[in-house]
Amino acid sequence: MTVLYCATGNPGKLREFREAAGDGFEILPCDSRDCPETGDTFEANALQKAHCYAQALTAKTGAEQWLFADDSGIAVDALGGAPGVYSARFAGVGADDAANNALLLDRLANVPAAERTARYVCVIALLRGNTVLGTFRAEAEGVILHHPRGTGGFGYDPYFHFPSLDQTFAEIPAELKWRHSHRGKAFRAMLDWFWNHEPSRL
Ligand code: IMP
Repeated sequence: MTVLYCATGNPGKLREFREAAGDGFEILPCDSRDCPETGDTFEANALQKAHCYAQALTAKTGAEQWLFADDSGIAVDALGGAPGVYSARFAGVGADDAANNALLLDRLANVPAAERTARYVCVIALLRGNTVLGTFRAEAEGVILHHPRGTGGFGYDPYFHFPSLDQTFAEIPAELKWRHSHRGKAFRAMLDWFWNHEPSRL
């Protein structure tokens, strides 16, 4: 059994990771922190967050711990990959989902359906103490709709149509989203790292 700290103050994310981790891991929360997020790639921001949380955790527990941090967002082809790492603050710092979605639709107003391709991206950084063991990147490909569909999920999900299921990420059940999502796939890639490199811990 490995104790693995999750660098998030978000209880929803923590619950998702816990449910997916299975018996070999105990996923623990970290004290919420304000960390700088100044990178221009998901990798840079995931590493920045991981180091920021790890520093506080090592100081608190007096030992090097296993810890992971994720960074995610949506990249829209017709916008040259925007909003990308700025997805949470696309319409400004503190913007809510409605404001971000409104801006996205506005920017895509003249873009035809065939050119509204996009992908969600997630990068998870895994550290032990201050040592980087890996970064794990995964993507989910979709298309931005003109009108919202579904009430589940969060963020851009009501507009994110996932062609292979012919539904938006807001229409599918949470387990199905986790199976196909950028975050679910990146998390499973990180778990695979443990099976490949530290099987005796599981
Ligand atoms: P963070 O990884 O928590 O910083 O999230 C970045 C932002 O990307 C979120 O605030 C959402 O706007 C967007 N985002 C990331 N993952 C998802 C998702 O699964 N659904 C909808 N929006 C997402």
